[in-house]
This record gives sequence, structure tokens and C-alpha cells, in this order.
Amino acid sequence: MSLLLKHLMCFTELSSEVILSQCVLFFLVGYDTTSSCLSFAAYNLAMNPQFQDMLAKEIDDKIQPGTKLTYDVVNDMPFLDAVISETLRLYPPVVILERTAREDIFVREFPVKKGTTITIPIYSLHRDPNLFRDPDKFDPSRFHQSTTRVWDS
Ligand code: HEM
Repeated sequence: MSLLLKHLMCFTELSSEVILSQCVLFFLVGYDTTSSCLSFAAYNLAMNPQFQDMLAKEIDDKIQPGTKLTYDVVNDMPFLDAVISETLRLYPPVVILERTAREDIFVREFPVKKGTTITIPIYSLHRDPNLFRDPDKFDPSRFHQSTTRVWDS
């Protein structure tokens, strides 16, 4: 780590304060988002034991005694992926995004003047009944092709 810091300070124009603030930011954005996502995933599974059972089955099928827990093994778990996606939909760790136009542009047919800041309401979009049927319901099958959706059953 000290080698990396020395390199950054000698070969870039970044000051030690900027490097330190970036390290702290990295720690915060990486830690808080991940822990919040995992906590809400555990909560959702506890409240919906049918999905917890489906996930446990997928994990048991994919991980036999002696299986090495690699990135590829975990990546080959579509229901786990759906559980995480549905958790991030219901409880997005980042609830809004902002973008400021650096020049006059059009977003589709809407003119956006240079300097205008646009807010993208992630949380509201994720809970919009026009976009997600029964939006407050935890239903990972929205993101999982081969599972019957709760509202279809
Ligand atoms: C569930 C976990 C995570 C979620 C939901 C998440 C969400 C996001 C979102 C929405 C943005 C875009 C912000 C914007 O453009 O205004 C972002 C950017 C970023 N995230 Fe994450 N993040 C997660 C995990 C992590 C982890 C683990 C790290 C690092 C260890 C990380 C590092 C960053 C960084 C450095 C940026 C800024 C990228 C840039 O400069 O454009 N994130 N993240």
C-alpha cells in the first residue's frame, strides 16, 4: 500500500489529501452498498421462506462436497442472481443519481440546457407500478425466466 501511495504521489499530480479521500470514498461506497444489499437479501429471504428454499436448493445442486467456491461457480447461480437483483430493486443502496449537462443536449425530444442538473429517482422508478407489477412485493422470479411469477400463479 505504501508503495502504491508513493507511486501515485511521484508519478501523478494527485496530492496525498486527494489520494486519501479517494481511498476513504472507495471504502465507503464499496462497504456500505454491499453490506446493505446483503442485509436486505437476508431479510427478504427470512420473510419469504419459499424463495429461501429455492435458493438453498440451487446452492446445494451447484456446490457438492469438494467443489471449489470460485467466481465461475457462484456466477452459475441464476436464482441467486435474481435474489440479489430483486433485493437491489426493492432496497437500492443508491437511491438517486444526478447528472449535470456540460453542454446543451437533447434527451430524446427534451432539450436540456448546459449546467442543468437532472436527478434520476432510482428508488421511485423501482417502486413504480407502471414498471413493476405489485412493486412492493419481493419476487425474485421477475429476474428469473424459468420460475413462475408470483402474480401468474
Ligand atoms: C451492491 C453493491 C453496490 C452498488 C448497489 C453500487 C452502486 C453504484 C452506483 C449506482 C454507482 C453510480 C453512481 C453515479 O454514477 O452517480 C456506483 C459507482 C461507483 N461504485 Fe459502486 N456499488 C456497489 C458496490 C461497489 C463496490 C464493492 C465498490 C468498490 C470496492 C464500488 C465502487 C464504486 C466506484 C469507485 C464508483 C464510481 C465510479 C465512477 O467514477 O463513475 N461500488 N456504484
